[in-house]
Amino acid sequence: MPYFTGLQPVAPSPIPSPLTKEMPRELTAEEIRDIISKFIQGAVRAISAGFDGIEIHMAHGYLVNQFLSPESNARTDDYGGSTARRSRFAQEIVEGIRKCAPGDYPVICRISADEYTDTGLKLEESREIAKILEKAGTSALHVSACNYASAFFNIPCYYLEEGCFVHLAAGIKSVVKIPVLAVGRILNPAMAESILQEGKADLVVFGRTLIADPHLPNKAKDNRLDDIRTCISCNRCIESISDKRLICTVNPSIGKENIHRTAKTMQPKKILVVGGGPAGLSAAQVLSDRGHKVTLWEKGSRLGGSFCYASLAPRKESLEKFLDYLILQVKKTTAVIKLNTEATAESIKHFSPEVVVLAHGARNVHVEISGAQNNGAIDVKQAFVNSDSLGNNIAIVGGGPEGCELADFLASRGKKITLIEMRRVLGLGLVAHPRYHVCERLKKMGAQLHINTKVIEIGHHYIIINRRREADQKLDGFDAIIIPTLHQPNSALAASIQPFVPEVYTVGDAAEGRTALEAIAEGVEFGMKV
Ligand SMILES: Cc1cc2nc3c(=O)[nH]c(=O)nc-3n(C[C@H](O)[C@H](O)[C@H](O)COP(=O)(O)OP(=O)(O)OC[C@H]3O[C@@H](n4cnc5c(N)ncnc54)[C@H](O)[C@@H]3O)c2cc1C
Ligand SMILES: Cc1cc2nc3c(=O)[nH]c(=O)nc-3n(C[C@H](O)[C@H](O)[C@H](O)COP(=O)(O)O)c2cc1C
Ligand code: SF4
Repeated sequence: MPYFTGLQPVAPSPIPSPLTKEMPRELTAEEIRDIISKFIQGAVRAISAGFDGIEIHMAHGYLVNQFLSPESNARTDDYGGSTARRSRFAQEIVEGIRKCAPGDYPVICRISADEYTDTGLKLEESREIAKILEKAGTSALHVSACNYASAFFNIPCYYLEEGCFVHLAAGIKSVVKIPVLAVGRILNPAMAESILQEGKADLVVFGRTLIADPHLPNKAKDNRLDDIRTCISCNRCIESISDKRLICTVNPSIGKENIHRTAKTMQPKKILVVGGGPAGLSAAQVLSDRGHKVTLWEKGSRLGGSFCYASLAPRKESLEKFLDYLILQVKKTTAVIKLNTEATAESIKHFSPEVVVLAHGARNVHVEISGAQNNGAIDVKQAFVNSDSLGNNIAIVGGGPEGCELADFLASRGKKITLIEMRRVLGLGLVAHPRYHVCERLKKMGAQLHINTKVIEIGHHYIIINRRREADQKLDGFDAIIIPTLHQPNSALAASIQPFVPEVYTVGDAAEGRTALEAIAEGVEFGMKV
């Protein structure tokens, strides 16, 4: 990228990058030979540094993939044209490394067996490439997918099927004798085992599955399958690495293993956790594990808080599995959980805890729109719960994450959706991958999507919208109108108990409306502090 190097990028052919749109310069034959020799020198250094194996990246739109692909390689010399010629760059790298590496040294090649684009590699051609790489001396093939034009599929989020690339590994395995590795949303040991048993691959690769729970292999070995914290495929991790850090919704300890130690307390305290959402559950678990006497009060009849709504939208079922895990982990501790128990200043005073962790969620306030209150507009949570009684023609005001997911939920049930967002993009606040997929789903289902559009009035079955520099417009005939909610800090209870509770902490959405990631992280961090 010129942004980093100040140089024009190079490529097999002058075809613009689908990501940055920058035009690369075509590599000369001499430069190609030089790059091949640098790959070989790199491998030699890795071997002498003591690595047990090498994986050469020939996938995902990087340089070797660009040579293999008909989409990015339009050369007419020995390195372009037929499948064999486009494979030559990769082949010479493997042959060169093979000459320098000890006899059975593992040299793995990672390929995109399907680039998921119109003109890119498909499985059939990749099978030919696999045979060429096998002949060149490759020890194993790691079968992935996509390039930068299809990057929204490459690290498959919850909108894509579990194990969505496994069929590609199986397709490659049927034409080679060397081991084949499968990757892509393989979420648990049972699934991994069935891939092996069904002969679809010889090895199974866990990426995010191990970010979510690095202890998975030991838990599987000890048959503690219920204790495995499953990745929800939300892709917050991949988004975070552009900020030079790694965060995970379900694993707040990733990258912080040295700080996140649940050391037993020397002074067990009587602690009340208010709220059984992700923040309260996480805090209760850590505090109990550390030896405190914990009681959790939840005013509702079930645990999970707002996160119960998070798994209602299509394809988000894995979030419910994670919530079940979170609840199970708390139930395994000595924490006393009381449902249907609302914490008030009086009831807390009466309980007389030494510490209160307030995890009672955000103060939800309806966005003020003229006419909303008098004309029966309801909020997103009410719409999720009462979807059957909403009628068929529904207007959703606010195309943020919650509005988009509600639109998807209702459109999937055959309802006619009009979604209005005042900003210029839908789903702002969602990670790029799920945002792309939810928007595509809405378009495919025929939802009417209005961006740069403000709802200025809500009436009886109608709304008045205004698009910048245009006259106001009336959209009529709605059976239901849904309005957005602001999630504001919920500080009143803290203020009222501070005079008589020695330590009060506020965590999660109660401190500031965000997502389960922050709620869980704060629950755990405050749990360690006390
Ligand atoms: C439709 C929707 C989709 C979402 N999707 C995602 C997503 O995909 N990913 C993500 O990370 N986040 C998502 N979120 C946000 C996420 O659910 C919240 O950020 C998270 O649940 C906040 O956790 P919390 O524990 O702080 O609060 P909450 O989950 O709100 O829990 C607070 C709990 O406290 C209880 N309570 C309140 N007052 C009292 C009281 N006085 N006494 C006792 N109990 C009380 C409430 O009943 C509730 O159970 C979504 C939210 C919604 C609504
Ligand atoms: C945080 C993160 C960083 C990644 N970095 C790379 C990378 O540098 N190069 C690459 O080819 N793939 C990268 N990937 C993709 C993974 O190698 C893997 O193909 C993908 O996550 C799908 O596997 P999984 O479902 O097991 O996570 C990354 C994925 C994640 C989550
Ligand atoms: S951030 Fe989301 S996708 Fe990434 S490992 Fe954690 S749960 Fe999985």
